[in-house]
Amino acid sequence: MLPVLAKPNVCIRDQKRVEEIILSLQNGGASKLQIISDFDMTLTRFAHNGKRCPTSHNIVDTSRLISEDCKKTLKDLLDTYYPIEIDPSRSVAEKLPLMVEWWTKAHGCLVEQKIRKDQLEMAVRESDAMLRDGFKPFFDKLYEHSIPLVIFSAGIGDVLEEIIRQAGVFHPNVKVVSNYMDFDDNGVLRAFKGELIHTYNKREGALKNSGLFNQQTESRNIILLGDSMGDLSMADGVENTENILKIGFLNDKVEERREQYLNSYDIVLVKDESMDVVNGILQHIIAKN
Ligand code: TMP
Ligand code: MG
Repeated sequence: MLPVLAKPNVCIRDQKRVEEIILSLQNGGASKLQIISDFDMTLTRFAHNGKRCPTSHNIVDTSRLISEDCKKTLKDLLDTYYPIEIDPSRSVAEKLPLMVEWWTKAHGCLVEQKIRKDQLEMAVRESDAMLRDGFKPFFDKLYEHSIPLVIFSAGIGDVLEEIIRQAGVFHPNVKVVSNYMDFDDNGVLRAFKGELIHTYNKREGALKNSGLFNQQTESRNIILLGDSMGDLSMADGVENTENILKIGFLNDKVEERREQYLNSYDIVLVKDESMDVVNGILQHIIAKN
């Protein structure tokens, strides 16, 4: 077993199955591999020094671009809907309309704020956004070995792109599927583009964007990274998947959700703010080439 999987916060239901998948990924090597990852709270940290880190929405919601009234509305929405998003006792069917409600209200609120495209860079720069420890070798290794990374996010695409750009890791192998802002001719936000992506409709988004997930026809081995139960369907648009390793970050409400995560993700990382385990597995797969 890989030494990195011996870390005490690494939880695995079926060790043998994980070993078999990793061996298959290793045999396939870099040329067959593709990474499909959620963004908020998966590539970014959940907390730092005991303080919650922002999602891509939160960065805008708490920035100078938003009025105090709008900030309060967005905070109330978060306090109402986030507990529903992560509640293991509610079914996805029950959560679905409520998530649509949350995203629709939040985006409606943002559109009223006349946000300018050229202000986003500053909002990100002034925010507490933080990619997970070890993000640089993660992005750099994937680029170096031409491994496609599709970031599939229910956050705000313009903001998350800016985060990875400012971190210096927005390499050409990175593609993003997300909610993008639509600006008018004066660069002022007037709507959000395309169909809404929220936490629990990623399967539909995956199927709709299947071209993006099948750019390299050889990339049939997948490592999927997520932090929500909704992230598990992100690879549903990949044709002829041969092997898939699902790695889940369990950041919040750990005890209530541990069982559910262990039953759904192959590897569960409990309160791990780093990319160490992912980097260790990648290194193992690539080293053989
Ligand atoms: P993700 O798919 O990249 O993880 O992005 C979705 C996260 O964004 C989800 O956990 C909820 C969060 N969110 C906010 O923090 N504020 C908001 O206003 C909305 C609509 C979502
Ligand atoms: Mg997430």
